[in-house]
Amino acid sequence: MDHLRNCARLTIVALTLFTSLSATAARPGQRMPILTDARLLHAVGITPVTQDYVSGTAYAIVDSRQREIITAKAHEWGRCGGYELLVNGDSPNYVFGGLQMMQMQNTAFMRSPRFLAFAQVDENELIKRAVSQVSASNLKSMVSWLSSYPDRYNRGETPNKHVQDLYEKLKEMASGSSLPVQIDVIDHKSTPQKSLRVHIQGKSRPNEIVAMGGHLDSINQSWFGANKKAPGADDNASGSSNLIEALRILLQQPQPERSIEIFWYAGEESGLLGSAEIASVYRSQNRDVVGVLQLDMTLHPGEGEFVIASMTDFTSAWLREYFANLNSAYVGAKIVEDRCGYGCSDHASWHRNGYPALMPFESKMRSMNNNIHTEKDVINADSNFAHSAMFSKIAVAFAMDLGNSNARAPSPRR
Ligand code: BES
Ligand code: ZN
Repeated sequence: MDHLRNCARLTIVALTLFTSLSATAARPGQRMPILTDARLLHAVGITPVTQDYVSGTAYAIVDSRQREIITAKAHEWGRCGGYELLVNGDSPNYVFGGLQMMQMQNTAFMRSPRFLAFAQVDENELIKRAVSQVSASNLKSMVSWLSSYPDRYNRGETPNKHVQDLYEKLKEMASGSSLPVQIDVIDHKSTPQKSLRVHIQGKSRPNEIVAMGGHLDSINQSWFGANKKAPGADDNASGSSNLIEALRILLQQPQPERSIEIFWYAGEESGLLGSAEIASVYRSQNRDVVGVLQLDMTLHPGEGEFVIASMTDFTSAWLREYFANLNSAYVGAKIVEDRCGYGCSDHASWHRNGYPALMPFESKMRSMNNNIHTEKDVINADSNFAHSAMFSKIAVAFAMDLGNSNARAPSPRR
């Protein structure tokens, strides 16, 4: 990534200095394809190659100077980086083709009577009891464990140390469960770092998959200083821990009708690497993924405790509607909407491959944790584990409700 995630220091150091010092994939002056917020691009007077009016996302080819201007405007608007560099040279067809199809299907589906049945959530005692078992203090110890590695960087010296340790922990957890569980270490072509997957086999419809995931890697994008520690407590030991805690509870539940899969992705911070490979393999094998929940940053309640944002880009409208009902039945958070303006996390990989995704986030973008991607992303006075616990509750409810339901939305074949 050649844009800055940690916003705070952009105002201090000259933009040109940043460009020349950052570990950028693109050379200064080099024109590169990016994905960004259409309004942001318009505001700085750059014409996109193409844009998608429904999601408000624009595809443009810009040089480093223009990228700086976009980032500066994003900061003016109280946002971070502002764009996604399409390092793999992804075509507009790739980034938008899927989006348009998803939107058409969303609209058609939400008009159909089937939608009401799908989005409805009937309160269930078993799910309520499971949700009540989520422990904020378990989360605290897991986030402090994961953030104690010097880094979890995919290009670091030991990109798989923490992956191996989590693998051992997951095996141990699964051994105490009577459910049919398989744990896989997933190799990647684009990075030596590995992803992890826990598969809980469904009873009657094992081919239907309810997926949940978050990235396990971390990054330090600081410009100065020898300290390249990347504790990544919020980004994303928090979401990773939410999934471990949800798994602990799910392993003690009756076998679900559908299969449940939980992912800890590799190399998200270097461009969604792990999830991009996984989602495209799933698509090429035509795997039937009913819905995907992404958890990335859940620890910093920037809009207030229990106020969470539901990201509206690279997610499916009907799944967000379902989520609102799931939340009323089992979680009780206040949901507000926001958008990244680019594929800011692994949900975008699934969405691009035609799978319905959902991304609840710690706050609105404007009030998100400003310490991410630095050595300062540690547990501190702002960390709120009760807030974070909401996201494990969402995961437990999502897996148990969707995992035992017949409801499904159209899943496009690309
Ligand atoms: N946790 C962030 C994503 C994020 C940031 C979500 C702000 C919502 C709001 C993630 O780990 C990240 O840093 N993503 C990259 C993009 C990716 C394509 C490298 C980013 O936003 O710079
Ligand atoms: Zn990040």
